[in-house]
Amino acid sequence: MIICKKISAVRDIVKEQRGQGRSIALVPTMGYLHEGHLTLVEEARKSGAFVVMSIFVNPLQFGPNEDFARYPRDLERDAKKAEGAGVDLIFNPEVEEMYPAKNLTHVEVDELGDSLCGASRPGHFRGVTTVVSKLFHIVQPDRAYFGQKDYQQYLIICQMVKDLNFPIEVIGVPIVREEDGLALSSRNIYLSPEQRAEALVLQRSLGEAENWFRQGERSALTIEERIKELIRNESSGEIDYVEIRSAENLHRVEQIEGKIFIALAVRFGSTRLIDNKVLEGM
Ligand code: PAJ
Repeated sequence: MIICKKISAVRDIVKEQRGQGRSIALVPTMGYLHEGHLTLVEEARKSGAFVVMSIFVNPLQFGPNEDFARYPRDLERDAKKAEGAGVDLIFNPEVEEMYPAKNLTHVEVDELGDSLCGASRPGHFRGVTTVVSKLFHIVQPDRAYFGQKDYQQYLIICQMVKDLNFPIEVIGVPIVREEDGLALSSRNIYLSPEQRAEALVLQRSLGEAENWFRQGERSALTIEERIKELIRNESSGEIDYVEIRSAENLHRVEQIEGKIFIALAVRFGSTRLIDNKVLEGM
């Protein structure tokens, strides 16, 4: 496995691989790898492609009061995991390599980034789409892999690829969870043991919501309110949002029909966790 810090080196290696007839797969990450990230790699490997993983904690997508400085970073640990999973090349640039001078150009997807995580994290998705566009231009992959744990991010990237004609296939990979149901996240290490136990309420409430849905409940508002009640009763988590939206365009829904997703964001202490469930209405 090769580790590159420089854009020019990545370009050279990718060009060489293409010359040998390999297709290129990209798995963008911010590192501190866990099974969720490694599942994306596993999917990428299935296509037989040369697998590039970027590890870059992107300052542009963090707000001024967010955890950019303390976001966990450990390249040595990540390199071992990535190599074990079959990554061919890690691209791990310094901030100065990605943003050498003041960055004046941004990529922004209208509408889809305004709600949910975009409402509580202004500018976040603009930072994501800008860095992902840069990564797409640097690596020029045939396929790029994104987790549906960040369902809104996944939809926004799909829209960007469509609108800007990136010749890239975006592949969404289902959420990977711990055995007890907690969605894997690099931020889980911030949780105290008590918060970690309380955070299981996310997955539990999504499971309950699915039961209510299967029993015939179709009012989005009713399900949202019942989820909030459950979270408040069973944890000290502070709810950021609980919302049911179209899984195709993020529009609000009143009566559940078609493909929807239930999105949650809850704070445990200073750690904000997200989770979601996609349901097909009839
Ligand atoms: P990061 O949070 O490191 O996640 C990298 C990728 O792993 C994302 O596509 C995310 O959805 C996926 N992922 C994380 N946890 C997962 C889980 N439990 N199950 C399935 N997939 C999971 O998302 C980012 O980084 C950044 O915003 C990035 C796209 C790299 C741009 O900076």
